[in-house]
Amino acid sequence: MSNLKVVILAAGQGTRMKSKVPKVLHKVLDKTMIDYVITASRNAGAEDICVIVGHQSAMVKAMIGDGVKFALQKQQLGTGHALMQASDFIAEDGNILVLCGDTPLITAQTIKKLNDIHVSEDNFATVISAVVENPFGYGRIIRENGVFSKITEQKDATEAEKEIKEINTGVYIFKAKELKEAFKSLTNNNAQGEYYLTDVLEILKNNGGKVGIMTAEDENEFLGVNSKLQLSQASKIMKRRINEKLMIEGVTIEDPDNTYIGMDVEIAADTVILPGTILEGKTKIGSDCIIGPNTRIISSVVKDAVIIQHSTLINAEVDNFTTVGPYAYLRPNSKIGEHVRIGDFVEIKNSNIDDGTKVSHLTYVGDSDVGKNINFGCGTVTVNYDGRNKFRTTIKDNAFIGCNTNLIAPVTVEENAYIAAGSTITKDIPENALSIARSKQINKAEWRKKMNK
Ligand code: UD1
Ligand code: CA
Repeated sequence: MSNLKVVILAAGQGTRMKSKVPKVLHKVLDKTMIDYVITASRNAGAEDICVIVGHQSAMVKAMIGDGVKFALQKQQLGTGHALMQASDFIAEDGNILVLCGDTPLITAQTIKKLNDIHVSEDNFATVISAVVENPFGYGRIIRENGVFSKITEQKDATEAEKEIKEINTGVYIFKAKELKEAFKSLTNNNAQGEYYLTDVLEILKNNGGKVGIMTAEDENEFLGVNSKLQLSQASKIMKRRINEKLMIEGVTIEDPDNTYIGMDVEIAADTVILPGTILEGKTKIGSDCIIGPNTRIISSVVKDAVIIQHSTLINAEVDNFTTVGPYAYLRPNSKIGEHVRIGDFVEIKNSNIDDGTKVSHLTYVGDSDVGKNINFGCGTVTVNYDGRNKFRTTIKDNAFIGCNTNLIAPVTVEENAYIAAGSTITKDIPENALSIARSKQINKAEWRKKMNK
């Protein structure tokens, strides 16, 4: 679709959300609602996108970031008024697609289809309608002899109109020039005192143009999120859509209702996702892994045949055949090699752990470079922070770290060194050495008996 310009309406506060966060920034799974609408537009081939911002515009703009244009609607005087703020963006010819920032389930295929119908029917405007069980809150499509007559909002509808189940999805495409002409006739003479975009369609019809209706095949795509309840409904539909796609591609998801996977997550076939798992951001998981139960992975790379249970990973990398958890925490910039074991109650931060190393339990490894085939005893701590600065710990291949060792950084443990349990290491340890850094044990004979006298 060449030259398709898109305007996304996102200036409203979303009063019905009862939130200090602007409506379009509420999340469906791991992404904001407006993100999905922008992504669908791009996937439909739209290159030029303008987002109408207003309520808390700085926050909305910051969250959306670069790559789109913005137009400001200072006062939220209605959807028609919102679109008028993009007058400079709307070209003098061609078409302009209009989407709402609160309909995150819209797909690129639907946008393309709308454009095709609009062009082939040579309409002034084409709107997507949907037939729904419960039309409450939506604008109703009023037809006369089967063709478009007007759209009536819930608050302006007569009792008879309220019975109509064909609703306005809020997705439209207009001929740019005719749209701009119609703006001149738009008034706010209605129950809410707003400039309704929906009235523009009636104006176009009265100006002699054709207004087409494309009836949606799947009304789920057009769920308009106005409340937290609808937000949860949208999340449920999105979750199902993503999980079904992954299962078709060969991923096993034991309980799809209880598994939350973001749209940008990639998972290879033959990986099993167990219940209570949340996979977010640009996470990439290889094949033959078992992930979960109750695991959260954010923007991390997990290679093949990895087992991760009851754990949290943020911006981490885990290589083939490694096991993580239960109850491990891999924080940003943790790179874990192959055949590594990260066991229970282990936290790793900003560290490299090379192949074959075992960090089995109750250990903190921060700001460290850890070699191959090292054994960490239970309760090891890399003491990386002196209250002001952070320092690195280096442990080379085949070293043995006894239980309850403190490694006061900066410190280096050379290859094959051996640290006795309970040591607090403050000096570098040479290759093959045994290091014992603890006070000597004293046994006082018969002490107990003397005390009890
Ligand atoms: C709107 C439609 C309704 C349709 C429904 C579909 C109108 C008048 N009504 O109603 O027919 O069935 O969407 O979901 O268009 N916005 C602005 N500036 C404003 C007002 C709204 O940018 O001044 C934005 C909002 O941020 C939102 C979108 O426009 O993203 C829709 O606004 P909303 O108030 O949710 O409209 P609805 O009452 O749902
Ligand atoms: Ca809405």
